[in-house]
Amino acid sequence: MTRYGPVNGTLRLRKAIAAKYRRENGLSFGLDQITVGVGAKQVIYNALAATIGAGDEVIIPAPYWVSYPDMVMVCDGTPVIVPCGENAGFKLTGPALEAAITPGTRWLILNSPSNPTGACYSETEMRALTEVLMRHPHVALMTDDIYEHIRFSDEPFISPLALEPRLAGRTLLVNGVSKTYAMPGFRIGYGVGPADLIRAISVIQSQTTSAAASPSMAAAAAALDGDQGFVAEARAAYRLRRDRTVALLNAIDGITCRPPDGAFYVFPGVAGLIGRRRPDGRVLVSDLDVALYFLEEAGVAVLDGTAYGLSPYLRLSIAAALPDLETACARLKTACEALQPA
Ligand SMILES: Cc1ncc(COP(=O)(O)O)c(C=O)c1O
Repeated sequence: MTRYGPVNGTLRLRKAIAAKYRRENGLSFGLDQITVGVGAKQVIYNALAATIGAGDEVIIPAPYWVSYPDMVMVCDGTPVIVPCGENAGFKLTGPALEAAITPGTRWLILNSPSNPTGACYSETEMRALTEVLMRHPHVALMTDDIYEHIRFSDEPFISPLALEPRLAGRTLLVNGVSKTYAMPGFRIGYGVGPADLIRAISVIQSQTTSAAASPSMAAAAAALDGDQGFVAEARAAYRLRRDRTVALLNAIDGITCRPPDGAFYVFPGVAGLIGRRRPDGRVLVSDLDVALYFLEEAGVAVLDGTAYGLSPYLRLSIAAALPDLETACARLKTACEALQPA
């Protein structure tokens, strides 16, 4: 495993990825339709770099994973942010998608379950989007499915390609081993889609990083081909942390938190804290102020919703041990009780 591997991934890993899609998603892909990158992140970036330039628009529902708009801008494209508020379950609707599409639209990026909100699209919700896409053949679809296996409802994971196979010629499915197998440091992600797009992605990767690391590709193949029991255990642990964290946050005056359907984040609203005054007299004007207050006063690191395209919210990771989450929530409660009313 000490040598350079094939740029688009070892045969063993691409076979394991093809088997994953057959087994878990009922989708068949040829080995020339699969590429392996240094994380899902690199696959997404390479796909954008290979396909967009000045004047190209990429529709990104907000809240979004922070990297999408920045990647689009690095590639000279224009991110078209579509706000998806809490009333819409933080999800894009068919009419909102339709309204955002222009002749310049190149991609729609979907992320379900979502970072930061944990929102998961149901079959009906996903079908509403695929129906719009079928009316706009110039729009390609990129799905970031990295949290596919971290879901808390009994609803099955919905791949738009399973719903609408006619999108196959313009859909890139992105996934990886970072979240499902808790292997983020291995840096292995993959993309499956039309062979010409996969070739273009490989050209970019070939001139930048070359193949992902050979030992990591072997480890990822072992994870995909191995006993999947670990995945359900991890899901149960995340569910416990979600339930406990959501309950503890909702017990804090000024914070409201809906239980996320997936991923390992919670995205509580903090509108009730805006306008309150810190013990040092400073007023909390934004969710960034709240995040900084929690960092300074409670020693708890959270991120502001503004960074994810929707405020006033916070994003908290629950990829931590339950006792640590309980301590963190207790400290947030104390910090909120120390605030003066608005
Ligand atoms: C939505 C989303 N996509 C992609 C990634 C990155 O995945 P990878 O580690 O495979 O690059 C993350 C990691 O936080 C993520 O939250």
